[in-house]
Amino acid sequence: MREVMTKSMARNIFYGGSIFFILLFLGLTLHSHAYITGTSTASMPLTDSVARGKRVWEANACINCHTIHGEGAYFAPEVGNVMTRWGVIDNPEDAFQTLKGWIEAQPSGVEGRRQMPRYHFSDEEIRDLANFLIWANKTDLQGWPPNNAG
Ligand code: HEC
Repeated sequence: MREVMTKSMARNIFYGGSIFFILLFLGLTLHSHAYITGTSTASMPLTDSVARGKRVWEANACINCHTIHGEGAYFAPEVGNVMTRWGVIDNPEDAFQTLKGWIEAQPSGVEGRRQMPRYHFSDEEIRDLANFLIWANKTDLQGWPPNNAG
């Protein structure tokens, strides 16, 4: 008997292959979904304060000097993880106080050191900025940027 593929064999390969790849696609989709909701910012509350903080960040062009998550300018430090480096990531009140202290101490006037301009923000704006930076800090960036030493 000659080895030929019958119509039903071809049909089985077609349907079997299709089902296999559809299931693979569904499995990978579920895996991506679990990964995103489990480890990204999507599971964190995007509060009104965080959204306002982002607007303060944008309206004052902080990104013209800073990077956040690697995006921006390289004049000043990356701030995507500044709340971790300051040790205030889990305490919004400390984050607010520390950021307020920092902003009010600028420019440092230390010779030879890059300067940050003095901003005159209300407490609410600083609180919003702090909440925005905490929110950004909680994104899982798999260790990036590697500047946790300070
Ligand atoms: C003209 C450039 C410039 C702009 C614009 C600017 N910064 Fe800065 N910023 C700096 C510099 C330079 C430093 C580091 C100063 C130092 O270490 O003495 C700094 C430091 C910081 C730090 C501390 C970072 C750390 O790792 O310790 C934070 C937080 C910060 N800036 C937030 C902001 C925010 C929020 C804005 C916008 C409202 C902003 N900056 C706008 C230049 C700038």
